[in-house]
Amino acid sequence: MKQKKLQAVRGMNDILPAEAEQWIEFEETVSLCLRSYGYQQIRLPIVEHTALFKRAIGEVTDIVEKEMYAFTDALNGEELTLRPEGTAGCVRAAIEHNLLAQGASHRLWYAGPMFRHERPQKGRYRQFHQIGVEALGLEGPDIDAELILIGARLWNELGIADDISLELNSLGDTESRAAHRAALVDYFNAHKGELDEDSLRRLERNPLRILDSKNPDMQALIEAAPKLTEYLDAASRAHFDGLTRLLDDAGIPWRLNPRLVRGLDYYNRTVFEWVTTRLGAQGTVCAGGRYDGLVEQLGGKPAPAAGFAMGVERLLALWAEAEAPAQPTPPDVYIIHQGEAARRAAFRCAETVRDMGIDALMFMGEASFKAQFRKADASGARVALIFGDEEAQAGEVSVKFLREEREQQRVPTRQLFDLLDEVLY
Ligand code: HAM
Repeated sequence: MKQKKLQAVRGMNDILPAEAEQWIEFEETVSLCLRSYGYQQIRLPIVEHTALFKRAIGEVTDIVEKEMYAFTDALNGEELTLRPEGTAGCVRAAIEHNLLAQGASHRLWYAGPMFRHERPQKGRYRQFHQIGVEALGLEGPDIDAELILIGARLWNELGIADDISLELNSLGDTESRAAHRAALVDYFNAHKGELDEDSLRRLERNPLRILDSKNPDMQALIEAAPKLTEYLDAASRAHFDGLTRLLDDAGIPWRLNPRLVRGLDYYNRTVFEWVTTRLGAQGTVCAGGRYDGLVEQLGGKPAPAAGFAMGVERLLALWAEAEAPAQPTPPDVYIIHQGEAARRAAFRCAETVRDMGIDALMFMGEASFKAQFRKADASGARVALIFGDEEAQAGEVSVKFLREEREQQRVPTRQLFDLLDEVLY
């Protein structure tokens, strides 16, 4: 019987070497930018207890209700989940390792794959990558502004600032959200006949989520629903004003979007999204906000917090449009050889050359010099080092310059390093 072809899981992508180059450049740019703001990296497990995500993200959210890769550990029966996002794990780690003792604060970041069982399409995957940034223990609007400035600086550095805009909202405190929620329930109850099935269910359990509905028939109803901004408490309003003042000072344009509620329940006060119109339906490239209640909710002493996460695939798609894709870096030298003694000499030389910090690609196996030269040329190396019987016996190496008009040279191997130093640097 013919066996089924093995393929990657739907919505989970390979990142091939040609693309990986762009990923590496992106990650380096982001990590340097984060360092310049004093953020430190934290590395977190990909698997956490399912209960963590239920408690942090909320039981009645799309993520927890239908998108989690949750499973029972066959070995010990524990309920586990592939992380759908990084904030919950980051806060869990901060509490577990007592990072927030005595009012301490931390600026942290992490990078890696996240998993959500969504319907795959362009820009939406089941395994996708985030770079997340979390500021724990700081409550003022200044840190919210800093988090937003990090994004703005990055878009500038990547040359994609013109394609991305900032949307802001404030969700207020628990009381203002409760007052808004009550007003929403009244409003939607009065219009029950116009609600679709999903929204009817949400009306009972999480009426705020109705505002997230993408159903075109419901948009007019949603547009006219009571707005959270009308119920904001004075402290949250002052916080929000403090943030927008700092953004205005920094010359960062923003737009108030009173419908911005976010799909995770832990947020309060500031929420924001960086959006683009260039990627079709999946236009949010980076999103976050404040989550002052989460540390306490997960069992820590109360501590304020705020953060965001960027969607790496979406930003790379934008970046690729703005800039020619990064090319793989060629080796400095390509080493070719023929005959047993020559191969051993070549192998030794390759290691010594690498000890000097020179990138060396060595031909493996056996082939004619002609075939090896073709490979050397195709590799993009500047120099070919050639070991034949004669060279091996004499303790020498022939140096062929592949990218410049210059006579081939034969030198004792101990002189090779001065020559390479002169040619390559
Ligand atoms: P989120 O809005 O769920 O927030 O995800 C953040 C970003 O991840 C999105 O804006 C999007 O760019 C990307 N993203 C989400 N789902 C997918 C997907 N299926 N395929 C491709 N990209 C995707 C969070 O995850 C919060 N933890 C952010 C945060 C950190 N809030 C505070 N701190």
